Amino acid sequence: MINFSELLWKSGQRNDPGRRVSSVAEPEESRVVPALEHAPVARAQFDEGGRIAQLTDSRSSGADRFRFLRMRLRELRELAKLQSLVITSPMPEDGKSTIALSLATALAEGGKHPTLLIDADLHRSSIATNLALPPRPGLAECLEDGSNPMSHIVSVEPLGWYLLEAGEARRNPTELLQSAALPAVMQGIAPYFEWILIDSPPVLPLTDALSISRQVDATLLVARAGRTPREAIEESIKLIGQKHVLGIVLNGAGAEGLSRLYPQYYGRYEKK
Ligand SMILES: Nc1ncnc2c1ncn2[C@@H]1O[C@H](COP(=O)(O)OP(=O)(O)O)[C@@H](O)[C@H]1O
Ligand SMILES: [Mg+2]
Repeated sequence: MINFSELLWKSGQRNDPGRRVSSVAEPEESRVVPALEHAPVARAQFDEGGRIAQLTDSRSSGADRFRFLRMRLRELRELAKLQSLVITSPMPEDGKSTIALSLATALAEGGKHPTLLIDADLHRSSIATNLALPPRPGLAECLEDGSNPMSHIVSVEPLGWYLLEAGEARRNPTELLQSAALPAVMQGIAPYFEWILIDSPPVLPLTDALSISRQVDATLLVARAGRTPREAIEESIKLIGQKHVLGIVLNGAGAEGLSRLYPQYYGRYEKK
């Protein structure tokens, strides 16, 4: 499991990931994927001072954290197949969609690595709204009518990744995600992307994320610092299955929060 506290380790410290990663080859530069060349461009809008803008500024601490997470994911990919990841959390509002947006931006690295984000929260989709993109057909239509996911995927600029929106479900979303149509969608898109991230509903109130987790390589669990109770995290891990949970991303732990919550790591980081 990736421990969130690893996000704070610096060179020279115990378990220094920087040293380990030097032996891991970086993925190749831009892959040309002809099937994606003609994806319509969707121009995203986001706040200048907002979290995504922070990521496009490579010097920000937010960008640094996500670069680190990217490095860890690339490392783990050297050990086992790791292409598709579902992002979930115990409860609503923990920050799943926020982390999904940021992680897609980091993994795509300005378009060098074909990355797809699927909005699979068919109950409360928020990715398109967050980017001020108009609603369009997406995952729900693929699951309901068997339409080709590649025909609904858009290229999100200036973020450099691809998006399959949630679309509009006419049937019960939970049942839709349990159908055999989901594995078919996953198989249809797999050849074209290096990374596939799936934003999903919370795992405690709904079974959607569990259905999705059966069709992807691993689950990334999001917890909201100072809010998500430890028991809720433990219960979620139990439901998903410990082996399937790749790690926990602690969302909203600013420097101050971290120094209070995890002084054993933060103190060392600060003094270096
Ligand atoms: N680290 C954070 N700091 C401040 N606000 C945040 C943070 N992460 C998420 N939020 C806000 O909390 C709300 C819920 O986040 P969201 O990512 O949509 O959660 P979820 O997808 O888990 O329901 C959004 O308004 C979002 O902007
Ligand atoms: Mg969400």
